[in-house]
Amino acid sequence: MRRPRHAEPPPVFRPGGRQRLILDVDTGIDDSLALLYAAGRPDVDLVAVTTCAGNVGVDQVVHNTLGVLELAGAPHVEVARGAAGPIARRLETTPETHGPTGTGHAVLEPSGTVSDRTAIEVLVDEARRTPGEITLVTAGPLTNLAAAVLAEPDLPLLLRDVFVMGGTFSQAGNVHPRVEWNIHVDPEAARTVLHQWSAAGKRGAVPITMMGLDVTETSVIRAEDLLAVAHAAGLPAAAGTDVEVMTTALGSPVLDFVRDSLRFYFEFHELHDGFYGAHVHDPFVVGAAVDPTLIASLSTVVDVELGGQWTTGETIADWRGHFDKPVNAYVATTGDGPEFIRRLRSVLADLVREGTS
Ligand code: BDR
Ligand code: CA
Repeated sequence: MRRPRHAEPPPVFRPGGRQRLILDVDTGIDDSLALLYAAGRPDVDLVAVTTCAGNVGVDQVVHNTLGVLELAGAPHVEVARGAAGPIARRLETTPETHGPTGTGHAVLEPSGTVSDRTAIEVLVDEARRTPGEITLVTAGPLTNLAAAVLAEPDLPLLLRDVFVMGGTFSQAGNVHPRVEWNIHVDPEAARTVLHQWSAAGKRGAVPITMMGLDVTETSVIRAEDLLAVAHAAGLPAAAGTDVEVMTTALGSPVLDFVRDSLRFYFEFHELHDGFYGAHVHDPFVVGAAVDPTLIASLSTVVDVELGGQWTTGETIADWRGHFDKPVNAYVATTGDGPEFIRRLRSVLADLVREGTS
């Protein structure tokens, strides 16, 4: 019988200085909030955003990403088109969760254009240009990262850190009993990434931090949070029922977008999860990338199931060393979702003030 392998927490985080981030997204309602959070943090230098098909098709993801960055006052941030579909499977999208365009009831009309560079070029070029500086946060399927690490096997050594919203380790999946959406869409990509990080682990690569549903579902946003944002930003928002709060326009383009997009997510969660609110997975992962003290995590080896009837896409953490492979991940075991929501409220209030002054 195998004994538990010696799992370790990551080195202690020492805050300070601006952080250089690239976000890889499939925008998506919670991806939109992740973009707003990253763009709105004064200590984050958002180097670029790469896009991937997932919640919606990649052209729609580009459209949504450009629109959200414009709302955030960050139209200068490069947006690169990435994979139009998974490595080995037909693309599955999720209009029932994020609406037909990916932003729920909100409509975006961006004026910007997509970069000449592809997502893979951005990931590889930027990592090579500034080795050890960039933290990558993935909020969608891992198709782009898989292609990038195959194109540049040193990518795990060139990036400062990678934070992945993906998987579930001790809690029910949101697609199948053990399977989370981002890994479900492209399990071959997830496996490729994890295998490449194991291979690079021998050469000193920093393990990927994986935040699964067990942790991201602790960050729940509700109508009262949007009301609090409005009040903090000095908007005359009247209290009312949750539905009234979520249907009353406030004249702030950014907050009205957040309200209209989240309303769809709230309706989805009310139907499937029994509460009028939403888990905001992707922004929490950006929050933890910026300040890892929001989570606790332990090192291990993670692999992805590819051959199960119900388990294809399951993320398996090997706490006992059965796989006999170098460590490739820090798996987040707990997270302070409520504290992250407080920070998200504060960043949104700043964005509203900037957009209305
Ligand atoms: C993930 O699935 C997507 O629908 C969300 O945007 C998030 O990235 C949660 O499982
Ligand atoms: Ca997403």
